[in-house]
Amino acid sequence: MNQHALSVQDLVKTFDLGFLGAVPFLGPGITRRFQLKGIAQRVEAVRGITFSVEPGEVFGFLGPNGAGKTTTIKVLMGLIHPTSGQGTLLGAPLGDAQARARLGFLPEHPYFYEYLKPLEFLDFYARLFNLTHRERKRRAEALLDRLGLTYAKDRPLRKFSKGMIQRIGVAQALINDPALVVLDEPMSGLDPMGRKDVRDLIFELKEQGKTVFFSSHILADVEALCDRVAIMARGRIRSIGGLHELLTDAQSPVEIVTRGVEGAPREALAALAAQAREASGQQTFILESDAILESFLDQLRAVEGARLISVIPRRRSLEDLFVEEAAKADAADIQAHEGAPA
Ligand SMILES: Nc1ncnc2c1ncn2[C@@H]1O[C@H](COP(=O)(O)OP(=O)(O)OP(=O)(O)O)[C@@H](O)[C@H]1O
Ligand SMILES: [Mg+2]
Repeated sequence: MNQHALSVQDLVKTFDLGFLGAVPFLGPGITRRFQLKGIAQRVEAVRGITFSVEPGEVFGFLGPNGAGKTTTIKVLMGLIHPTSGQGTLLGAPLGDAQARARLGFLPEHPYFYEYLKPLEFLDFYARLFNLTHRERKRRAEALLDRLGLTYAKDRPLRKFSKGMIQRIGVAQALINDPALVVLDEPMSGLDPMGRKDVRDLIFELKEQGKTVFFSSHILADVEALCDRVAIMARGRIRSIGGLHELLTDAQSPVEIVTRGVEGAPREALAALAAQAREASGQQTFILESDAILESFLDQLRAVEGARLISVIPRRRSLEDLFVEEAAKADAADIQAHEGAPA
């Protein structure tokens, strides 16, 4: 049976904010009391998501601020309980201690013991995994070197910059040589060199057969790294799949460049296209989608003297997709809101 590296089914997480609109009044007795007005406020951070990540995959978890990424990750890490739904991590139910020992995790806002120096700090984490002194030292030094922090090995963490904290956080996540690495915004706060280091590191982990699940806003990093991505917005997964599939679906426009297509045949082909133009003896036709590509090409082949120069699918960028999905989520929310009984 295929065992997922991680999975969630129908995961819902709602945060109760208590009552909003509490107003103070002086009730009977001396104490100041609060009268509760209004209705209980709740945030539906995650609204029923199902997905899985397979062993060996590098999986990107994308979405705008407040989409529910960190909440999902916290549930996966067993840090908070879901309101409903369930999940697995390395084949075990969430929160399983044995699975956790094979997991590396970088939280969104890492906070570490400030008085420790980097090697002491990494040793502290390594001790949680029953490693020998020699092995702990070897791993800590190798990771410090790998994350480009050896030069700062005598500084306590309170003297680390934000990016340096992020780097040591990534080192910490790898100290137990985990099978699955979960990173919440690993590139955040890193300079271009730091981003490249983390990117290379994720590639290395993939080559070693590890699974990496990470959230990010930096679309270029995701594009360069991920086998698959999920795009989350307003607590729901809006798209999931290979980047290639998400970026070139049947709706993507196709650009066709030809030579030697003149007069009536050109008019006939232009009628099929969303746009047509001519420059330097070349004709460019933009088809709205590749659905009519075959019939367009058939018609083109029938034109005497016509030469096909290129057929280029116009790939949507990840940015386009991101913006589209966020806009769709907003539209769906507005509709649900307006459609709801008053
Ligand atoms: N402890 C909490 N109490 C109340 N609401 C919360 C809590 N944690 C998260 N939320 C709310 O849940 C929603 C999702 O937050 P979450 O941190 O999961 O988003 P995110 O996708 O990680 O965003 P970002 O990209 O900004 O990190 C937000 O509306 C947030 O305000
Ligand atoms: Mg977050």
